Amino acid sequence: MSLIDTATSRKILDSRGNATIEVEILTENGYGMVAAPSGASTGEHEVQAFPEGGVDASIRIFDDEICAQLIGMDVTEQRVIDTLLHQIDGTPNFSRIGGNLAVATSLAVARAGASCLGMPLYKYVGGALTEKIPKPLGNLIGGGRHAIGGTDIQEFLVISTSDKASDNVFGNAKAHMMVGQTLKERLPGSAIGRGDEGAWVAPLSNEDALSLLADVCDRASSELGFKVRPALDIAASEFYVNGVYKYKDKELSPEKQVEFVAGLVEQYDLHILEDPLEQNDFQGYARLTEMVGDKCLVVGDDLFVTNKERLAKGIEMGATNSILIKPNQVGTLTDTIETVELAKKNGFETVISHRSAETTDDSIAHLGVAFGSYAIKTGAVGGERIAKLNELIRIEEDLEA
Ligand code: PGA
Ligand code: ZN
Repeated sequence: MSLIDTATSRKILDSRGNATIEVEILTENGYGMVAAPSGASTGEHEVQAFPEGGVDASIRIFDDEICAQLIGMDVTEQRVIDTLLHQIDGTPNFSRIGGNLAVATSLAVARAGASCLGMPLYKYVGGALTEKIPKPLGNLIGGGRHAIGGTDIQEFLVISTSDKASDNVFGNAKAHMMVGQTLKERLPGSAIGRGDEGAWVAPLSNEDALSLLADVCDRASSELGFKVRPALDIAASEFYVNGVYKYKDKELSPEKQVEFVAGLVEQYDLHILEDPLEQNDFQGYARLTEMVGDKCLVVGDDLFVTNKERLAKGIEMGATNSILIKPNQVGTLTDTIETVELAKKNGFETVISHRSAETTDDSIAHLGVAFGSYAIKTGAVGGERIAKLNELIRIEEDLEA
């Protein structure tokens, strides 16, 4: 048992330049500090990140209502503390205190608990038998809500599939570099930039971006000696308007969207396909998963929002075979673990994920290992992304020691 002595919250910067919240927990022999990330293409069923009044309002609530209650509690009583956060909030979606306040507090408590026991977070949450390191899934070309003037498909990603985490981290970074080089050669004179997650942004059609990605995957795979495979996060809810998928160059009905996306999986041998349909079309997902689920991971992000009730419905309907896990979509570590356990019990893969606005917090690297996730989506380059990627390398070293 280790009692909480001090609990502090503060406003800090995130990678998009907005304010976010950081929470620090101190016990007599332990310490934990965690900052919350923020999304831009948020799902409509996520918990609310901040209450009216933003980060400042969350900090006031922390000081007035949460801090005094935490002090004196046993920091290892994670479930009790997470239940208390729900009770103090009193709404179904953390709209009064803010999901980002909840997630930063919950994870800072977990980090302090791990620290009291002299353990890394991944072992504290995952147990002594933890051994699998998720494969990094990195965004190389982007658009949607993460970049002005980019593709309408949000993320063109790669996943390096060596057994060694450090090879995979460098594999994705190499592919990122190759994309940049190829863009400069193919689009001389064009402005080429980077989006919120460090992915390249260029005047490309979805098809151009996909064929460039496939070409880079082939070249990187043969240079590296292990497969680097392509993946997409379509973030389809972002351009689903009045019953149709509105691309820059076409409009597709929900039925045609299923056919279009299934065709992309075939043509480009996609390994992972995230959010191919809008966030409430469980039936369309089931049809698509029937068609391509044996060839790739169909991952629900906005569809499930890390919520166990929505996942239960998806499992019952055969909507996907995988789920994206973003702790701040649901608000506490306990809620996140319950969703991960339900997924695993039903043979679903999990993919732990960053948000488009991040800090240098590396908690998701630990959680991905703790959960035995298949992949960790956390970009390929950029300070707030490499904070997680480099932590994977350190965790691998720790596991091998
Ligand atoms: P977000 O999006 O973090 O901007 O919400 C990332 C994603 O859709 O996976
Ligand atoms: Zn997504």
